[in-house]
Amino acid sequence: MTHPTNEPETPLIIRALRGQPTPRRPVWLMRQAGRYLPGYQRVRSQVGFLDLCRRPDLSAEVSLEPIERFGVDAAIVFSDILLPLEAMGLDVEFDDRGPLIPNPVRSREEVAQLQPFDPTVGTPWILETIERLCDALPRETPVLGFAGAPLTLAAYAVEGRMSKSLVGVMGLRWREPDLFADLLDRLAEATVPYLAAQARAGASALQVFDTWAGACSRADWERFALPPLQRVFGGVRRELGADCPPLVLYAKGTGAWMSELPRTGADAFSVDWRLPLAEAQDALGDAPVQGNLDPTALHGTPESVRAATREMLDGVAGRDGIVANLGHGVLVGTPPENVAAFVEEIQRA
Ligand code: CP3
Repeated sequence: MTHPTNEPETPLIIRALRGQPTPRRPVWLMRQAGRYLPGYQRVRSQVGFLDLCRRPDLSAEVSLEPIERFGVDAAIVFSDILLPLEAMGLDVEFDDRGPLIPNPVRSREEVAQLQPFDPTVGTPWILETIERLCDALPRETPVLGFAGAPLTLAAYAVEGRMSKSLVGVMGLRWREPDLFADLLDRLAEATVPYLAAQARAGASALQVFDTWAGACSRADWERFALPPLQRVFGGVRRELGADCPPLVLYAKGTGAWMSELPRTGADAFSVDWRLPLAEAQDALGDAPVQGNLDPTALHGTPESVRAATREMLDGVAGRDGIVANLGHGVLVGTPPENVAAFVEEIQRA
């Protein structure tokens, strides 16, 4: 499959992620499918989260809900960053408190037991969901694939539970830095075929979520987080060659060293809400950017959402390489009418 980049039929998001001009700003939202949507809640009242992820018919249905409801410019395949950990040999569960890994990875033996996996065998359902979405959607609405960044996957694999302080994973970093680096490297190795398979199944861009990137110092980010990210992006690019779609990095909380992020090898950067988008793009050497409205802004009124969105767009007026999005995922309890106002305000311009 080829990915033409500058023909008129190339989707707006893909043109923007390549740094090309677009007649209007394209928009999608991180975590655009989920608990704030009634259709999602209906499906979830029937099936557990993991079963939903493994049912391509239902995953495709919930992936399509934000397209049908709001007309966003891309679908993101419904799954979770933690599912590949299961294919690598960990138990992954989800309960009311979020993800739970009852057999976390903490010792040399446990790291050594992590298995690389073939995504066509270990996670076939995500590939089938992507195929279904590509069949269901018009060409102008691309499907986005994704994976967790090694550091963020390690945070869950070592902690076993969501943790604010990350003392489990950072404890490992301080006690056994070489083992920590080895863990990150194994996670990177497994992520390359996982992302490449999503592109082969039809994903038009691939985003790597590094939600915990800002938890470490700049020095630790360079020492531990950067090499596995380079391995992921370099590996995917090598595996897919000329067919490689745009590769996007979301590295939350890294504004203090934003100018270092292009060293990862990503093509485009999804940025959090802390810096104005234009400043972020300047710091990134004019790379394409995606973002970056504060997700809590969607807890205002439709009028305040429109005003905040306008301000964000005015801040990047005249620039190319802009995809409108939030600075992190849609929060639980977000009123759908505020998401509608956000999308409308962007697409109106
Ligand atoms: O963007 C989308 O709509 C696609 C689906 C998607 C989900 N998770 C579905 C989900 C994506 C891209 C993710 C990414 C993800 N998952 C990240 C990175 C981005 C971020 O938000 O920081 C992380 C850290 C995870 C791990 C994870 N999964 C956590 C911490 C939780 C519990 C807290 C929460 O946000 O709900 C999940 C569960 C999860 N993943 C849900 C959904 C819709 C809720 C499951 C439910 O219905 O109970």
